[in-house]
Amino acid sequence: MTEHRVITARPVTDVPPVVEEQLDAAERAGLKTRIKRLMQAQDACLLAHYYTSGDLQDLAIETGGCVSDSLEMARFGHAAAAKTLVVAGVRFMGETAKILNPEKRVLMPEIKAECSLDLSCPADDFAKFCDQHPERTVVVYANTSAAVKARADWMVTSSIAVPVVKYLHEQGKKILWAPDRFLGDYVQKATGADMILWQGSCVVHEKFKAEGIRALKREHPEAAVLVHPESPAEVIALANVVGSTTQLINAVRDLPQPTFIVATDNGIFHKMREAAPGKLLLEAPSGGRGATCVSCAHCPWMAMNGLRNLAHVLESGANEIHIPEDIRAKAVHAIDRMLDFAAASGVTVRGTSGD
Ligand code: 13P
Ligand code: SF4
Repeated sequence: MTEHRVITARPVTDVPPVVEEQLDAAERAGLKTRIKRLMQAQDACLLAHYYTSGDLQDLAIETGGCVSDSLEMARFGHAAAAKTLVVAGVRFMGETAKILNPEKRVLMPEIKAECSLDLSCPADDFAKFCDQHPERTVVVYANTSAAVKARADWMVTSSIAVPVVKYLHEQGKKILWAPDRFLGDYVQKATGADMILWQGSCVVHEKFKAEGIRALKREHPEAAVLVHPESPAEVIALANVVGSTTQLINAVRDLPQPTFIVATDNGIFHKMREAAPGKLLLEAPSGGRGATCVSCAHCPWMAMNGLRNLAHVLESGANEIHIPEDIRAKAVHAIDRMLDFAAASGVTVRGTSGD
């Protein structure tokens, strides 16, 4: 009889502190002018995630790039005519851009911008986990390395994970899911699929506290609760809306409530305030009694991106993303499947673009 040893996630202990770029008005304006000139000269397009600084998000819009969730970053970068894509986010986002666009140069302001989900899932351990369950369809979250995606049948982002797994479940497939155990558990409950889960987690979202949200809700009974599905099940259970970053921004704009309790990285407030200027936006508590978070409600790796290092990479050509062709050629199938599924099923989750 084969022994089915379930390999749990690699513990992620070396989480850096959150260090935000500090700029005065003159330096900010000078850097923006320099970056715009460099981007134009190099035919570059900036793709920024909602968790990066307001400066980077504004610059992406001003230069015709986009600010969005990871699904739309992949789609927008793929459709863009630019020769260079600059990805302000974390490494899996830069790698996804390169996997989809091998002919384009892909740069990142900070190459050490990791993600605890990606770090929790080394490709060798993941391959052993897959080998133990050869009968299962392998579905991985976007927050993984190119080598992990190369082993997968499908890649999904948070905005499309439920419809993809629902579709696979209806085809009679059993799922091997990695790396986020909370998102995996949410998808399992939403679809009823047979899933086994890698045990990774996001250092930011795992710290949101159900008790703190309940207390805030008692103070603001009129509030709707918005939760990113990387959060624990007891937090998700309190949500009026569970969704990707773009879906949560759309909820603030579209729902009638005047107040929102938001359980995701607080970088998202930049676009939420623009989307719904008159509404009260409250950060869901991630601290409180027994708080253990190093990076309460803000991703330390996203915070590594700034205008200074963006100017530096454009001037020096540093931090270019390279992926061995054998890995890229395998990984692209898992991403293409998701993009084709999104196009065929009409999943339209648009970020904000400067076009
Ligand atoms: P989204 O695809 O919802 O933007 O999520 C990416 C991410 O890393 C959230 O922590
Ligand atoms: Fe990864 Fe969490 Fe940071 Fe998103 S917020 S990039 S999931 S560590």
